[in-house]
Formats: sequence, C-alpha cells, structure tokens
Amino acid sequence: MKQILVLYYSRTGNTEKMAKAVAEGAQLNDDIKVILDFHIAPEELSSFDAIVVGAPTYHHDMPVDFKNLFEEVAVNGTSLKGKVGATFGSYGWSGEAPKLILEIMKNKFEMQIVEPSLLVNYVPNQKMLSACRELGKRVSETLMRKA
Ligand SMILES: Cc1cc2nc3c(=O)[nH]c(=O)nc-3n(C[C@H](O)[C@H](O)[C@H](O)COP(=O)(O)O)c2cc1C
Repeated sequence: MKQILVLYYSRTGNTEKMAKAVAEGAQLNDDIKVILDFHIAPEELSSFDAIVVGAPTYHHDMPVDFKNLFEEVAVNGTSLKGKVGATFGSYGWSGEAPKLILEIMKNKFEMQIVEPSLLVNYVPNQKMLSACRELGKRVSETLMRKA
C-alpha cells in the first residue's frame, strides 16, 4: 500500500478546494491510500511515499507553517530523498508559494518532482478542478511506476 499525503493551507478556502480535487485524482486504485490534512508533524512525513503540498501565496511568500515544517524536517535530519513531490496553490497576482516549495523539495530534500506547480487564480473553476484531479493522478502514476 502506497501512501500519499496532500497537505494544504488555506485562509479563504480556495486552495482547500484544489486540495480536495488533487486528493480525489490521486486515489487511482486500492493500492493507494490518500491522506488529506492541513497539519502534520515533521517526523510523520517519512511515512509517506508522496507528498503534495497546497500553498496559497500571501505577501509573495509561502505560509509560515510550511517554512517551520521544512526547517524542522531539515533540523531533525528526516530524509525525504526519492519521495514523489508536487505543489499547487491559489494566488492573486504573483503566485510564488508553490514554486518556492517545489524548489525546496527538489534542491534540499532531493525528492522526485512532478512539474510544473499548478497555480489557480483565486477561486478554482471546473476546468481548474479537473487540472487539480489530473495533478493528483500524475502523482499516483509516478508513484506506481516506481513500485
Ligand atoms: C493580505 C493578502 C496578501 C496577499 N498577497 C498575495 C501575493 O503576494 N501574491 C499573490 O499572488 N496573491 C496574494 N494574495 C491573494 C491570495 O493568494 C488569494 O486570495 C488566494 O486565493 C488565497 O488562497 P486561499 O483561499 O487558499 O487562502 C494575497 C491576499 C491577501 C488577503
């Protein structure tokens, strides 16, 4: 059984809508368990095979919760090497957060990245929710190919 974490932060619900659709798309078959959550302890990350992070952009940056999480992972020496990683998020005009997180996944944690990050301008419409489901599916497929 492969485990996929869809971890998100959302103040006004836009990234949360995306996260639910990503989680739906990731549930490809019965060999995959998808966990959707907005909080995770750093040491728990090592139990997942894929980590997908949803982050809206506020003040040209990623949410501070995620900064703390990634710093803790590094300090604790938790290895995420080779795990599948992807990011997404709602934004207004600049949308840095998902790209910043993908950069950390790739450069610091040496994860296997599914690119590019998926960005949605404010509220996701049906077309963008389909794109979210498609991202989840790509993550699952990448994971199944590794098995
Ligand atoms: C105080 C504030 C600051 C923001 N700063 C940015 C920003 O720097 N860049 C950007 O692209 N969007 C910015 N936004 C827009 C949010 O990213 C956008 O509203 C997004 O849909 C919020 O997602 P959420 O509903 O998941 O919290 C900002 C919004 C607020 C309220």
